[in-house]
Amino acid sequence: SIEKKVDSVLALMQINEKIGQLVQYSGKWNATGPSSTKGDQHKFEKLKKGEVGSMLNITSVASIRETQKIVMEHSRLKIPLIFAYDVIHGYKTIFPIPLGETASWDLGIMKQSAAIAAKESAASGLNWTFAPMIDVSRDARWGRVMEGAGEDPYLNAVVGVARIEGFQGDDLSDIYTIAACAKHFAGYGFGEAGRDYNTVNVGANELHNTILPPFKAAAEAGAATFMNAFNDIDGIPATGHKILQRDILKGAWNWNGLVVSDWGSIGEMRAHGYAEDKKHAAEIALNAGSDMDMESYAYEAHLETLLSENKISINQIDDAVKRVLRLKFELGLFDDPYKYCNEQREKDNVYSKENLAIARDVAKKSIVLLKNENNVLPLSKQIRSIAVIGPLADDKDSPLGNWRAKGEYNSAVSLLEGIKNAVGENTKIHYAKGVDLTIPTIEPGANQFLLPLKFNTTDDSGITKAVEAAKKSDVVLLAIGENAYQTGEGRSQTNIGFLGLQNELLEAVYKVNKNIVIVLMNGRPMDLSRASEIAPSILECWHLGSESGNAIADVVFGDYNPSGKLPVSFPHNVGQEPLYYNQKNTGRPYSNKHVTFSGYRDAPKKALYPFGFGLSYTTFSYDNLQLDKTEIKASDDIKASVNVTNTGNRAGEEVVQLYIRDLVGSFVRPVKELKGFEKVMLKGGETKTINFTINAKMLQFYTANNKWEVEPGKFNVWVGGDSTTSLKKSFSVIE
Ligand code: IFM
Repeated sequence: SIEKKVDSVLALMQINEKIGQLVQYSGKWNATGPSSTKGDQHKFEKLKKGEVGSMLNITSVASIRETQKIVMEHSRLKIPLIFAYDVIHGYKTIFPIPLGETASWDLGIMKQSAAIAAKESAASGLNWTFAPMIDVSRDARWGRVMEGAGEDPYLNAVVGVARIEGFQGDDLSDIYTIAACAKHFAGYGFGEAGRDYNTVNVGANELHNTILPPFKAAAEAGAATFMNAFNDIDGIPATGHKILQRDILKGAWNWNGLVVSDWGSIGEMRAHGYAEDKKHAAEIALNAGSDMDMESYAYEAHLETLLSENKISINQIDDAVKRVLRLKFELGLFDDPYKYCNEQREKDNVYSKENLAIARDVAKKSIVLLKNENNVLPLSKQIRSIAVIGPLADDKDSPLGNWRAKGEYNSAVSLLEGIKNAVGENTKIHYAKGVDLTIPTIEPGANQFLLPLKFNTTDDSGITKAVEAAKKSDVVLLAIGENAYQTGEGRSQTNIGFLGLQNELLEAVYKVNKNIVIVLMNGRPMDLSRASEIAPSILECWHLGSESGNAIADVVFGDYNPSGKLPVSFPHNVGQEPLYYNQKNTGRPYSNKHVTFSGYRDAPKKALYPFGFGLSYTTFSYDNLQLDKTEIKASDDIKASVNVTNTGNRAGEEVVQLYIRDLVGSFVRPVKELKGFEKVMLKGGETKTINFTINAKMLQFYTANNKWEVEPGKFNVWVGGDSTTSLKKSFSVIE
């Protein structure tokens, strides 16, 4: 068995080799060997001694083979390296950003896109991705909202599991699968005021009932690895959080995978003011259960001394090393360290036509129709003229989004190209960029973390051309929003509106042509208040990946009937953030007479576009919600059924959503919680009965008794097409 093999290798290891397995370096190795910088030379020497467990950021079969060779040819025990990379939404074939893809509410295609990302990266020699991010994210100001599954714990859990299954398949030793990494454990999405890396102040209720459930699901689904987080939670840095890592993850959940630190997060415990120096940081991190040190250089420098001083134990080190070795055995690297290194396979599998076709399919399913007054959409392909306007209209780079792995600069199909591909010669296309949304050129190897957020706010000369284009066209497709690097790590913003001169562009175009479809490209919920007032149609297109323009054209011309639903609430303005549907009621939820209630004097309390919302080119109605019982014991199931009708002529898909509220709890419970959904296809005029089984798992929560249990009492159940649904029934759980 693998455990026996792990033990047999462990028995051969000296302490420096054990500690080495807990070290992960970043490298930009190429086939000709490491660079001569001091840092790289240090890494090179450590590799030769077998004192490195894993490398990240080395890509391509040729470079990975060369790096593996250093260990194989020089080290005593020849323990193969694991190669890791942030394969977040595709490797070279780029899929929609994870937030956008989540809007499909289609777990099958999310699994499929992760499987393709795994196939391409495994064919390029990689073994491990730092994905999926399953941080519940409720603040649109946070740049990393783009990387997860939005604001809801249940959705993050099921989407996370689909992605883990896609990356890992059934067998990690398969040459087309890679190890997944559930991140960031835990609380990273709750940074105060949406500031990246910021303090997280949550108590037991929020931690257990909102933040941890997706991670528990990931552990149960067999995620091979977890990454801890940069933030502190209520004063304890996640990287040094013993309760989280040892007691909960490795203890109560009995998970036997590998925990990697985030980049430098062990060393950062000094800046937090939690560790005196790097040695102290290493002690705290290892004691807390952080197995592998990514780029802090703390373990390699201090674990041996800490061991001799009895500040850490050999059992802890052995346990961490075993977790690394186990993964290497599971990946099959001990059988053949070059198993994933095959140039022909790389050539055949990366960026193939089939993969691009699937990327288009996933992209079109991720689009959300937010508004469609007077059925502006879909357009006829026989339309005489279309103005394609905006800074993102012919942008071939922004649709790739942030964290695009090996996605090549300027390789996406732009909106303009997609529209041109779809129409015949009789349709005139008038293109104008209008204004600039400076997208700095990302040369291969350039450091995207150094890019400034810089927009032109003075030169409006392009607006005149845009107005001309709008004037002579039947309809305007206005591509505005955010460039690729406005979201992602370190991309928090206090303004979630249209930056640069995009508002001016919108107003100028609107003056001459009211027939505007806003084609929104973005990585976070945006302030659409003015846009939704004046534009008859808004299509949320996120950053859709390699096939963006073609996928948007599929929806614009009705070849695909949009079926996406928002995984995050869109606010009226940034002042409402953090905004999420599953809030608590408060003691003063609402009054229409009085000011002393929990709301705002200058803005609504609710979302402009709520969680779960999205239109179709057809319409759906819900009725006859029924429960098969009105009273159950906690261990009983209860069946809910509802009739969903396509009230239009066109076939379409609807995401039928089930929400539950536990009316009284030992911790205050949210006003509604998503507990299930089903995406169903209905022909025009067709009615289907959709059934849900409500079970104890859906009713329980982490109670004031510090355990997961169902508390007797009354529950409400809603079913509908978004989180504001009012179709409701109730039942009680009795002792
Ligand atoms: O995987 C990422 C993490 O999400 C943020 N810090 C860097 C890591 C490795 O690139």
